[in-house]
Amino acid sequence: MKEKNFIPLKDFPNFDEDEMLERSKFFKEYLRKRRSIREFSSKKIPIDVIKNCLLAAGTAPSGANMQPWHFVVITNSLIKRKIRIEAEKEEREFYENRAPDEWLEALTPFGTDSSKPFLENAPVLIAVFEKKYHLDLKGNKVKHYYIKESVGISVGMLITSLHYSGLATLTHTPSPMNFLNGILGRPRNEKPFLILVVGYPAENVKVPDIKKKELEVISTFV
Ligand SMILES: Cc1cc2nc3c(=O)[nH]c(=O)nc-3n(C[C@H](O)[C@H](O)[C@H](O)COP(=O)(O)O)c2cc1C
Repeated sequence: MKEKNFIPLKDFPNFDEDEMLERSKFFKEYLRKRRSIREFSSKKIPIDVIKNCLLAAGTAPSGANMQPWHFVVITNSLIKRKIRIEAEKEEREFYENRAPDEWLEALTPFGTDSSKPFLENAPVLIAVFEKKYHLDLKGNKVKHYYIKESVGISVGMLITSLHYSGLATLTHTPSPMNFLNGILGRPRNEKPFLILVVGYPAENVKVPDIKKKELEVISTFV
């Protein structure tokens, strides 16, 4: 490996094996408490928590460190309303015409339909964009690599950070979502990836009774 402008690795945590086991168990149990919710309280959330979680998401690994993501944090009611209107238009088209029966069948346990009140009720929406390229100082296009993988990892870290901070989320993907570029004034090199709805759960909220797969099913050790 050629060392180019390298610096010593700093602050890497050092735990003994018992501690590692304890920490991994705690974290697994903590993450088991995360659920997507579809009814949010309108209670405001501290914006500094969101900022910290975005910075945490921004530490994600990415192809050639291009960090091909952009997050738009929406708290403005008028903008949320515009997003709801456009998203519901697409969702109506999806549920009534575009969705194949197989897909509708897969969605039955979640009881979802084209109505998306959470886009207005939740205190924060985070629209996540994937950036296909950026411009260097001379205005030349610099290509990004493994964009979807990188943005997906970053969003995973964002959801985890929000959950760790005590906030609930819903990953929402109206399709297509190009209307977000218009409403949010994002440039052509950015493509909507998903909308993360963020807030506290509404009182007595219920979630679908679903199970996560067992270790033997999701993994193989060789
Ligand atoms: C990429 C992705 C897209 C999703 N899109 C939607 C969506 O548009 N609407 C919705 O209600 N839930 C959506 N979900 C949430 C899933 O239905 C949910 O994560 C899944 O049922 C598992 O439930 P859990 O998150 O509570 O573990 C999406 C999740 C992912 C990862």
